Amino acid sequence: MSGAKVLVIDAGGRGNAVAHAYARSPLVEKVYVAPGNAGSSIMDKCHLATHDQTPLKSIPELLSFAESQGIDLTFVGPEGYLSDGIVDCFIEEGQTIIGPSREAAILEGSKCYTKDLLKGLGVPVPPCSNFSQAGEAREYARQYCAEHPEKGLVVKADGLAAGKGSVVCSSLEESLSTIDRIMEAPKIFGGAGDRIEIEERLEGRELMFFCLSDGRAVLPLESALDYKQAFSQDEEVAIRLFNKLSKNPNLDNNPNTGGMGGFSPHPWLDQELTEKIMKRIAEPTVRGFCEKTGREYRGIIYFGLMIDQNRDPFVLEINVRLGDPEAEVILPRLETDMYELSLALSEGRLKGFELQWSDDCCLGVCAVSGRAIKPLSSGGGERPGYPGDHYTNMPISGLEKVDPDVLVYHNGTAWGTDAKGKSRLFTTGGRVLTLVGRGPTLAKAREKAYDNIKRIRFNGMRYRRDIGLGYT
Ligand code: AMP
Ligand code: GLY
Repeated sequence: MSGAKVLVIDAGGRGNAVAHAYARSPLVEKVYVAPGNAGSSIMDKCHLATHDQTPLKSIPELLSFAESQGIDLTFVGPEGYLSDGIVDCFIEEGQTIIGPSREAAILEGSKCYTKDLLKGLGVPVPPCSNFSQAGEAREYARQYCAEHPEKGLVVKADGLAAGKGSVVCSSLEESLSTIDRIMEAPKIFGGAGDRIEIEERLEGRELMFFCLSDGRAVLPLESALDYKQAFSQDEEVAIRLFNKLSKNPNLDNNPNTGGMGGFSPHPWLDQELTEKIMKRIAEPTVRGFCEKTGREYRGIIYFGLMIDQNRDPFVLEINVRLGDPEAEVILPRLETDMYELSLALSEGRLKGFELQWSDDCCLGVCAVSGRAIKPLSSGGGERPGYPGDHYTNMPISGLEKVDPDVLVYHNGTAWGTDAKGKSRLFTTGGRVLTLVGRGPTLAKAREKAYDNIKRIRFNGMRYRRDIGLGYT
C-alpha cells in the first residue's frame, strides 16, 4: 500500500520544520510544500508544490493542487491564509485540513476582540483598553501614566502585522508617538492600525505555550522561549542606528521581530505551571470561544504569556498557529508520529492522546538580513535591515560547511543564478535561515548552533549572539 500525501502550506522556516516532522512518519510517502522556499525540497520525501514550475500561492490554486494530487492531509502554517478562510474552503470540498476556521482565526486577527473575549471569560490579561480614535488613545495613555508613573505601556495594532505590531514603550512620550505612528497617516502598519489596544507593560518572564485542540479536548505541546527583540540588550549603538535609518523618533526602542531565535524545552515550564496555564487559560479560552460564538476551535493555539514573580500567567497575545522560530526548535523533539497526531486532531480523538518528546534540547538562531549598504550608482543606499527595510537577493555561501547533524531550516531563500551563470542560493526575506543545534544539554545545543552559524555568509547577515545565554 502506498503512503499518505501531505501538503504543508507555509513559505518559511516553520514550514520546513513542519514538513520535516511529517516526513519522519513511516505512514507518509510524500510531503509537498507551498509556496515553500529553497529549503522545502532538500529533506527526504519533501517537494515543492508547483504548477508549470511556478510556486502555488492562492487558495484556489492550493485547493486544486490538493484535489488533483490526491492529498490526504493539509497543514496550514501562517495566519494570513487562516484569516482568509483557507480551512473553510478546503473543508467545503471534503479535504482534511489542520487549522482553525476563518471565524476562529479572529483570535489572532484582532487583538482588541481577543482581549475583550478573554476579559469576559475571566482569563488573566494585563489591564488594557481598545481605541479607534487616536485622540482618545492619547488621552488614556496620558491619564494612565499620570496615575501609574512607575509603569510602562505597550501599544498594539489590532490587526495582523507580521509579528511586529506591538510596541513596548518605556515613557509616555514614546507611547504617544507610537499611537501617532500606528493610527495617523502614513500608518506604519496600514489598516491593521485602524484600531489599537493599549495595555500595561508587565514585568516577568515570557513563555510561548502551544496547544492542540480538536474543538473539545485541549492537549499541551512542548513550549519554547522565543527572542522577539531584534537586538540583544548590549547592542545600544546598533539599536540607535537602526532607529535613525528607520526614521523612528524613539531612538532607544529595541524593535520587535517575528522572532530571532529560541530554544526548547522552556526552562521554567514544569508540571505545576503547565496545569495552571491549562486550567486558567487554555481550557477556558477554547471552551469559552465555543460557548460565545457557537464555533469549535480546531487546530493549534499558541498563547504568548508573561509569567509574573508569583508564577502566575497572563496572556499577552493569542496566535492561531505554530510560532516561527518556535516550531523549528519544538518539532524536532516530537517523537509522536505527526501524521497520526494530525488525524487524531481532525477526527476529534485528541482526548487521552499521549505525546512523546525527546529529552534533547534544541536551540535555534536566525540569520537575518541586517544593515547593508549598496552603491547609490546601483540604486542602492543604506538600509537598516530586518525588521525594517532590508536588501534581498544577496548570494549565500558556506552552507556546505555546516555539520550534518545541524538542522538548517530556510526562512527566506530561493535558488538563482549569479553573474558567472552559477546556480546559487539567494536571500529573499528579512529572516533568511534558522540553524538549530541539538544536544543532551542546552549548552551543547547552543555550542552547535553558534559554531555552525559562523560558517555562513551573506551581505548584511546578522544574528543575535545571546540566544540561550544565561540558561545553560
Ligand atoms: P504580542 O505581539 O502581543 O505578542 O507582543 C510582542 C512582544 O511584545 C511580546 O512577546 C512581549 O515581548 C512584548 N509585550 C507584549 N505585550 C506586553 C505586555 N503587556 N507587557 C510586557 N511586554 C509585552
Ligand atoms: N515567533 C513568534 C511568532 O511566530 O509569532
